[in-house]
Amino acid sequence: MRQPNSSQADKLIIFDTTLRDGEQSPGASMTKDEKVRIAKALERMRVDVIEAGFPIASQGDFEAVEAVARAVRDSTVCGLARALDKDIDRAGEALKPANSARIHTFIATSPIHMKMKLRMEPDQVVEQAVRAVKRARQYTDNVEFSPEDAGRSELDFLCRVLEAVIDAGATTVNIPDTVGYNVPQQFGELIRQLRARVPNSDKAVFSVHCHNDLGLAVANSLSAVLNGARQVECTINGLGERAGNAALEEVVMAVRTRRDLFSCDTTLDTTQIMTCSRLVSSVTGFPVQPNKAIVGANAFAHESGIHQDGVLKSRETYEIMRAQDVGWSANRIVLGKHSGRNAFRSRLSDLGIEFGSEEALNEAFTRFKDLADKKHDIYDEDLQALVSESNLAAENERFKLVALRVCSETGETPSAEIALSVDGEERRAHALGSGPVDAAFRAIETIVSSGTELQLYSVNNITSGTDAQGEVTVRLEKAGRIVNGQGADTDIVVASAKAYVNA
Ligand code: KIV
Ligand code: ZN
Repeated sequence: MRQPNSSQADKLIIFDTTLRDGEQSPGASMTKDEKVRIAKALERMRVDVIEAGFPIASQGDFEAVEAVARAVRDSTVCGLARALDKDIDRAGEALKPANSARIHTFIATSPIHMKMKLRMEPDQVVEQAVRAVKRARQYTDNVEFSPEDAGRSELDFLCRVLEAVIDAGATTVNIPDTVGYNVPQQFGELIRQLRARVPNSDKAVFSVHCHNDLGLAVANSLSAVLNGARQVECTINGLGERAGNAALEEVVMAVRTRRDLFSCDTTLDTTQIMTCSRLVSSVTGFPVQPNKAIVGANAFAHESGIHQDGVLKSRETYEIMRAQDVGWSANRIVLGKHSGRNAFRSRLSDLGIEFGSEEALNEAFTRFKDLADKKHDIYDEDLQALVSESNLAAENERFKLVALRVCSETGETPSAEIALSVDGEERRAHALGSGPVDAAFRAIETIVSSGTELQLYSVNNITSGTDAQGEVTVRLEKAGRIVNGQGADTDIVVASAKAYVNA
């Protein structure tokens, strides 16, 4: 990783924590395979550091961090650890397969957290922070330290902690506004003061990690960058604990669009932003609001006649960014019924998707042909959904949707008849429901007897038009365990059944 005062001092490091803080959004838990898929997309976007999880939290978290560390080669992979020996050892263990590993250790420094949560004296906190950094350095020379709740900590104490951890070997010091309490002018000033007052501040990269409780996470992060922070911690679509973290796409595009103000830039391939946004949305089932900056469906849509007229005459009259620079395709129709295997493979390769084997390519191509029979124009978004469906099908071979017939008529009770392949054996069931989707889910449940409870059901159109594919996310819960399933099809009842079976 780049160190401060190098020849690239104007680089802004992007630290993505979608897989860790993002996963702390209630209901956004992801499986190991989903995390690896997202990590690979982040790597393709050239994110500098991927925080893959909190290895001590559970065996699942440990395995996910290990799997991401194994799968990712170009980005640094980071694991979170409290300032405790057992946490750091677990993180060090999970990160063993990484090409470039970082341990991120933290302890709270605000008076309220030290007194009420940790029940520790300030001196003990400093001692434990230093011990943690030294232990982490035994695993990697890339160590980040965070004084949790820095945004409500006393400045003198923060300076003392930061000086001590930098002396102990921390190469990045991250200033979290854990509870989203800060406002831009004050947070920027905090970063300026810390850099000026910590005697060894030039020996570490200053980072920020802002929460969005007051809707200020991005503004606070940018204010910090203007005051010398050179790493921003953020998440795709602003996912994260409570109101979320700073949205990666907003931070990156603000810095890039306003190069006149920021004396730094990222090395991200911003054309991958939409792919990452869609992937995270589909895996978590958290839809992106239409008016969301950069990645919302309306972000580049001009409704008013005056705006449309202006944009047609000269794009810059109302557009400050180009839609294609963040991955909205300029020429959105990409393939159709007559496209061959090579065109299919080549378009997916442009999207950064490669197949592990000819068999996997053939399987996805067969699905593509089926889709092209139902839908005239195939867009990049359709291809992405189709490929993630192929991945899901490969991972989840025990249950497969074979056939579905639904009957829905005004005045009649909707019904569904379903055929599933269970461990290779075909099973059939019939059920009634309050609607065709409900009936289909009940029919599936008759066969699989999962005993789960449906927590979330969401449908999003992948592209526009009535022939668009619907992408469905289903979240099921049983005994505290939550799983998500996805499915896509031009028929939303079929997409729903696929999502349920996948979950
Ligand atoms: O919000 C926070 O303080 C965190 C730390 C672990 C960095 O997520
Ligand atoms: Zn956080």
